[in-house]
Amino acid sequence: MKISVIGGGYVGLVSAACLAQLGHWVELIEIDPDRARSISQGRPQIYEKGLEALLSKHLGERLHVSSIYDHIAESDLSFICVGTPEGEGGRPDLSMVQSACRSLGRSLRDKSSYHLVVMKSTVLPGTTEGLVIPAILKHSRREGDEIGFCMNPEFLREGRAVEDFMHPDRIVIGCNDPISGELAESVYRGIEAPVVRTEIKSAEMIKYASNAFLATKISFANELGNLCKALRIDAYEVMKGVGMDHRINPHFLNAGAGFGGSCFPKDLSALIALAQSLDEKPLILRSVQEVNERQPLRLLELLEGKIGRLKGKRIAVLGLAFKNDTDDIRESRSIPVIMKLKEEGADIVAYDPKAVDSMKRLIQDIEYCPTAADALRGADACIVMTEWPEFSELDEEFDRMRSRVIIEGRRILSCRDIEGICW
Ligand code: UDX
Repeated sequence: MKISVIGGGYVGLVSAACLAQLGHWVELIEIDPDRARSISQGRPQIYEKGLEALLSKHLGERLHVSSIYDHIAESDLSFICVGTPEGEGGRPDLSMVQSACRSLGRSLRDKSSYHLVVMKSTVLPGTTEGLVIPAILKHSRREGDEIGFCMNPEFLREGRAVEDFMHPDRIVIGCNDPISGELAESVYRGIEAPVVRTEIKSAEMIKYASNAFLATKISFANELGNLCKALRIDAYEVMKGVGMDHRINPHFLNAGAGFGGSCFPKDLSALIALAQSLDEKPLILRSVQEVNERQPLRLLELLEGKIGRLKGKRIAVLGLAFKNDTDDIRESRSIPVIMKLKEEGADIVAYDPKAVDSMKRLIQDIEYCPTAADALRGADACIVMTEWPEFSELDEEFDRMRSRVIIEGRRILSCRDIEGICW
């Protein structure tokens, strides 16, 4: 099929590359000319395992990149993959969705044949039918039956988005008419996965409910982990036993410094805002959020318990990215830790294998080191904030510290003398 993908961020770019790999002809529309140029040269601005290989295989052949909407009418269907970052009051900012609908609608004005629009951006239930469909019909000046609409959420994890696209647990397709649903489902021919066909609003909600539940598992693991810590029990031992129940499963029960990233925090806030707008009380969701806000600061309580007041102490922060295998620091749990250390007057030195440049754009007035060993030299204590595999190799580097005080916010180290947040 001929597919146009709107938005060259990590969802749109990965989707475009994977759709080309499935045999489709794909045009990726990215309105930022610099980002479009780097993608078309096979140099994506995001790190995703396997992505560069797909780009070099398909660019110029099945995959084309453009900054304009001129050729969209030549495609059979369009995916909208623009960002919906957290906006006012926790609800998603829909400005990029509105802009994409306007441009897409206008580009369909002169198309005489049927066209399918598939929403992949994360939007609250009711948005596709309440905003996307009316906007596209208005700007295209076409009748409802000439343009089909579906909602097809993604469940991509940063760093593993190509793998998650090609091997999903399920494909969710929300549609209000069978023709659009069949056409959307046929896009994924070649991918082995159960297909959930539902209505549009349910598909929108499946995305939020999935992320909110995963975040809930993490905050549950952290709350139980804090209790285990108080009882001198290793939370990982407990969750190993809990996760063996097939109804629970072992995933997302790793206690630690909490969840970050561009999705869990914003999707949780959006769902809470939606519930409150409907006079519902999101008690569980608010607790998940509160546990996550408090969790990283528990590391500093542990730290003060070991070395006393933090003022003037040299603290090495190992790990800045919100998780390993990415340079993304959005909502990283290392940010509240660093901000609190600054507030306490600590002398902060930080290292991360990939995310130093990202963090420098947010926090300039701390010291950054090129290696973990450099960061540890002369430090009074060290806090590990990201589960980078290279940290599990560290041992004698900790001897360079003024005192070997190691507080672990992620279960990644394999050396002695470790104090874990929940172990
Ligand atoms: C998440 C969802 O997994 C994905 O399905 C959705 O499409 C987008 O949001 P992502 O944000 O990329 O993906 O990261 P993920 O791997 O889920 O981790 C999120 C955060 O939770 C990280 O900060 C990670 O350190 C933390 N985490 C994860 C835990 O603290 N404990 C766990 O057991 C798992």
